Amino acid sequence: MIVRFPESLSRVKKLFGWISMVSMLLALAQAEAMQRSSQPLVIVLLGPPGAGKGTHAPPLSEATGLPHISTGDLFRTHIQQGTDLGKLAKTYIDQGNLVPDELVLDMLFDRLKEPDCTQGSILDGFPRTLPQAKSLDARLKGRCAMLVLNFYVPDSILIERIAGRLICRDCKRPYHKLFDPPRETGFCEQCGGSLYTREDDQEAIVRKRLTVYRTETLPLIEYYAAQKDVLKEIDAQNSKDGVFHDILEVIPTSIKARRHLSVQ
Ligand code: AP5
Repeated sequence: MIVRFPESLSRVKKLFGWISMVSMLLALAQAEAMQRSSQPLVIVLLGPPGAGKGTHAPPLSEATGLPHISTGDLFRTHIQQGTDLGKLAKTYIDQGNLVPDELVLDMLFDRLKEPDCTQGSILDGFPRTLPQAKSLDARLKGRCAMLVLNFYVPDSILIERIAGRLICRDCKRPYHKLFDPPRETGFCEQCGGSLYTREDDQEAIVRKRLTVYRTETLPLIEYYAAQKDVLKEIDAQNSKDGVFHDILEVIPTSIKARRHLSVQ
């Protein structure tokens, strides 16, 4: 048998070349994953009115340690306090329209400057338009990882959910007359606050909100689907416990580990 040394040597060299390239790529991927896991995380809850964003945000906040920020709640607080922003926002909210982007962005970005947001946050009801999503991306770029949970629920279920919704005036926890009734009628079992029905939960306004959702917010699904590893679909038609279980399954382990949380 004749062994051609120069030929075998070049094959071995090529093989080592491939091996070192693959290990380099693996190391890069690992470094990227490590960087992502140590970065602050912004979780966006995306979905139509009544999908369950406000229901699942507080337990998710408890599980991850990230603050729950609802732009709808921020506006309702301004309305309750009678601020200029509240008076202006009310004229849009009462009609089932979105509040103009510049008002939402100023209010939200002010809130994100607060110290409890350094490790990230859970955004409920923001962004809702492409300009809002682009402004958020520009603000977070390179500083935070982002995870968008898209809650899917058919319209018939949404209307039923909103028609029976009650909200605590004090801690904002949502209840449902049939699906999640409070132990004591009219009072929050968490803080004892009184329960009320939101003015914009009348059926005609809800239908308008659903139309606005389709034109303004639905395009965000495509926008986030185009970004690598950002969008996760949540089938929010299931029971409350089932939906929360599915949410926990898509939360990165590193974030759950911060709270020593395990998915059962
Ligand atoms: P906002 O307060 O954000 O309202 P929304 O997006 O319309 O969402 P909802 O609060 O109605 O629904 P949800 O998904 O939180 O449902 P919930 O968990 O309560 O915004 C209000 C207004 O503010 C907007 O219309 C706009 O004008 C303005 N605004 C806010 N953000 C803005 C922005 N970024 N840009 C411009 N304008 C903005 O659940 C609903 C009910 O279902 C509850 O009763 C609950 O108990 C029940 N339920 C939940 N999950 C389940 C389940 N799995 N099974 C059975 N029942 C369930």
